[in-house]
Amino acid sequence: MSTMNKQMTLAVRPVGFPKESDFKLVESPIPTPGPGEFLVRVLYLSVDPYMRPLIGEGRSYRAAVEIGDVITGGGVGEVTQSNHPGFAVSEIVEGYFGWQQYAISDGSGVRKVDPNLAPISTALGVLGMPGLTAYFGLLDIGQPQAGESVVVSGAAGAVGSLVGQIAKIKGCHVVGIAGTDEKVRYLTEECGFDKAFNYKTTRNYYRKLKELCPNGIDVYFDNVGGAITDAVFRLINVRARIVVCGQISQYNLERPEMEPRWLWALIVKQARAEGFLVFQFAERYPEGLAQMAQWLKEGKLKYRETITEGIENAPRAFIGMLKGENIGKQLVKVADR
Ligand SMILES: NC(=O)c1ccc[n+]([C@@H]2O[C@H](COP(=O)([O-])OP(=O)(O)OC[C@H]3O[C@@H](n4cnc5c(N)ncnc54)[C@H](OP(=O)(O)O)[C@@H]3O)[C@@H](O)[C@H]2O)c1
Repeated sequence: MSTMNKQMTLAVRPVGFPKESDFKLVESPIPTPGPGEFLVRVLYLSVDPYMRPLIGEGRSYRAAVEIGDVITGGGVGEVTQSNHPGFAVSEIVEGYFGWQQYAISDGSGVRKVDPNLAPISTALGVLGMPGLTAYFGLLDIGQPQAGESVVVSGAAGAVGSLVGQIAKIKGCHVVGIAGTDEKVRYLTEECGFDKAFNYKTTRNYYRKLKELCPNGIDVYFDNVGGAITDAVFRLINVRARIVVCGQISQYNLERPEMEPRWLWALIVKQARAEGFLVFQFAERYPEGLAQMAQWLKEGKLKYRETITEGIENAPRAFIGMLKGENIGKQLVKVADR
């Protein structure tokens, strides 16, 4: 067994779209846990859009990754050494271990994963942060009612594909927006969305949405921002709820798009647009995870994973996700269990 720990670090702060050369793989000895600590052998890394603002010049809600730092990121792994009374060797854990093969933890922010509930990789997807984002964002901020029209952008990704399915469970008319015909088929044929369209081959988003939501839009779950969101604003109903979850169309721009400005629609329609961070619901995670696990068990939720092999390919997986190459949750498999 190797005694070295491969770590993916930040080499250069990306400007515009990230490149593989912005990252650098380094090796250091596998660390030894001190008192009250344990060692995690990472099995899967999570690849998430929030990492883009974190490695860039802009401001994010987490501390920026500095040049030379291990890339911040979630992961699932196995405890291989422990001096911590709460974590035993061979337990499966999920936490922010960073993009590396081995991580030391004192247990802060780490949760145990039941490997008998579902494949352990789901702790980074449907039964993890993206699932909780979909659950609380849609139900608490969006408050969908049966019969209402719900539009989801970024619909075939980790969060979006779950948002649409939860909205279907709640009896809504659901329309998804995604970037390939394969994704559109996934949404309508596997995830049960009523309608979906490919924004890359649709010229007029407003006209398309008007056709697919003839009664207007009551809830918009926004993962992308930009021109898609501009089109939605023109179609919202009275008392609509706009859930501002992500703005991925803006993350790689050197300057944010400034126009058009449709906020007047909030006045005329007495509507609400509200941003949120999944972490604000941390106290209620057990509720969200229990409900998502229940729906999964009942076959009411489907999920997909796009898995890239090898920590050395994590930057490629990240860039691929930003380009839309993933369906469902993008992961990197680091090691076999
Ligand atoms: N508020 C929170 O607490 C919270 C938590 C988690 C995630 N988020 C946000 O939720 C969104 C989805 O996250 P995720 O983890 O589920 O990622 P994801 O949807 O699995 O992956 C990102 C997807 O974004 C789409 N995309 C990329 N560039 C785009 C563009 N210019 N315009 C439209 N779509 C574009 C791509 O799909 P296409 O092929 O469809 O383009 C890509 O597959 C992100 O904006 C993320 O920042 C927020």
